[in-house]
Amino acid sequence: MMETSNTVYVIVCLICLSTCVSTSVSTRVSRQSNTGLTNNSTTKALVKKLTDGYGETSVRPVYNYRQTTYVYLRMLIYELVAFNEHSQHITLRSNMKMTWRDEYLQWDPSEWDGITSVTLRPSDIWKPDFDLEQNVERVHFIVADTYVIADYTGTVRWIFPVITTTACKINIVYFPYDVQQCNVTFYPWTLDNSQMRLLAEDDDDAHQQMYIRNGVWDLTNFQAANESIPYKCCPHPFDHVVYTLDLAREAAFFTTQIVMPSVFLSILMLISFWLHPDSGEKISLTVTNLLALILFQQLVAQFMPPTGEPRSIVVTCFFILIALSACSVILTVIVLRVYHTNVDSLPPSWAFMLLRIFINRKVEKTMSAFYDENSRLKGTRDVELSTSKSPSSCEAVTESTSLKEGSINGKTNEIADSEEELDYSFMWKHLALAIERVFGIILSACMLVCVIYALVAFGSRH
Ligand SMILES: *[C@@H]1O[C@H](CO)[C@@H](O)[C@H](O)[C@H]1NC(C)=O
Ligand SMILES: *[C@@H]1O[C@H](CO)[C@@H](O)[C@H](O)[C@H]1NC(C)=O
Ligand SMILES: *[C@@H]1O[C@H](CO)[C@@H](O)[C@H](O)[C@H]1NC(C)=O
Ligand SMILES: *[C@@H]1O[C@H](CO)[C@@H](O)[C@H](O)[C@H]1NC(C)=O
Repeated sequence: MMETSNTVYVIVCLICLSTCVSTSVSTRVSRQSNTGLTNNSTTKALVKKLTDGYGETSVRPVYNYRQTTYVYLRMLIYELVAFNEHSQHITLRSNMKMTWRDEYLQWDPSEWDGITSVTLRPSDIWKPDFDLEQNVERVHFIVADTYVIADYTGTVRWIFPVITTTACKINIVYFPYDVQQCNVTFYPWTLDNSQMRLLAEDDDDAHQQMYIRNGVWDLTNFQAANESIPYKCCPHPFDHVVYTLDLAREAAFFTTQIVMPSVFLSILMLISFWLHPDSGEKISLTVTNLLALILFQQLVAQFMPPTGEPRSIVVTCFFILIALSACSVILTVIVLRVYHTNVDSLPPSWAFMLLRIFINRKVEKTMSAFYDENSRLKGTRDVELSTSKSPSSCEAVTESTSLKEGSINGKTNEIADSEEELDYSFMWKHLALAIERVFGIILSACMLVCVIYALVAFGSRH
């Protein structure tokens, strides 16, 4: 019995001891956090001192008002969010950094627990007021609520993300192998050169390593320029910081989707002149070709702003190709019309004279023999016409033949007639083939001129 009460006593004591230890530990912990709070409260006191004694935030923070404030600007482009080619606007997501010296934000770190920098609300201190020249949005900037970092020397750094939509005049001459140049200009709204200088900062950050390629546009060059622009109103010029972006279109998509197919279609257009008129598919081939070209032209037009500016080379090429394709339809109709002529007369001799070098040599000999015969007969007929009037040339030919040969009966005459008719259609066909050859050569020449024009025009890009 005595032993059990002892055991209970020991247990109770142990519990008391452990509670005491844990309490002392927890007090030590709370004391530690108290020292942390001391540091925190030093900062708070410092910020309170800085902002309470600050005064009006619209006044430039210099003791001597003749002193100029230097504001350095740095723009870091993260992403080209959108490039609207129709309205000619670009939307950029970027990171801005502004640095300036505020003489009212200085302290001695040794008096303030070694604190060298504090964060402040931008609304509590003076900020440079500036504007974006090419801005097209009603809301000036979309700025996140960010704080300003102030150094004990008075250097203030304000880093903030912005999404800006700016106007950028697009130049479509070299589409789709084009490089667009856009300017983004920042300038102070109220303070001229003598009060505030706005300059581009040149640091490592400014090399745009953060840029995310968006698959369509690649940032090939980014440059900042310091400019001073005088205004009529004011005695001193205003500083402008001009950022120039060169955006190169990644043309692989357009090469495979538009340029190469239209090259193939052009080749098909020429091939259609090689297709024999007897195949009966000539017209459908040329018309389909024309429609396909028009379709591709519409695709290209989607990417073009409807400007009256210098014409795009691609648009001009498509115009020429469609014109040539329409011509090829017309020419094919002419060729087919001539080919299927069913007239029992010789093709006009001037046509033969014009096209004789394009006619197969053997056929050409036969044909010229026909023409020689014809003109000889015509001569005889002319002589005859002066004596006896015959109603048709065919009859005249028959008459003159019968007159000359004298001893030929009617049946042989008929056979000769039908043979001549056959030979005539054969001549028309060969004439049509010759016309086709000439048209093919002309069209190929036009196409060659178009290709040379495109190559020269794109070659003169830089
Ligand atoms: C300042 O106080 C906060 C909350 O009171 C605390 O989380 C933080 O750790 C403290 N900072 C320092 C440096 O002690
Ligand atoms: C608080 O400030 C003192 C110097 O005054 C420093 O030694 C200590 O590490 C600081 N504590 C914290 C938690 O930052
Ligand atoms: C952009 O600014 C530069 C430098 O001021 C100027 O030379 C260039 O013509 C401008 N480009 C456009 C497209 O406004
Ligand atoms: C603009 O001026 C600043 C300060 O003088 C200079 O550091 C920077 O290199 C200049 N930028 C350009 C592009 O000249």
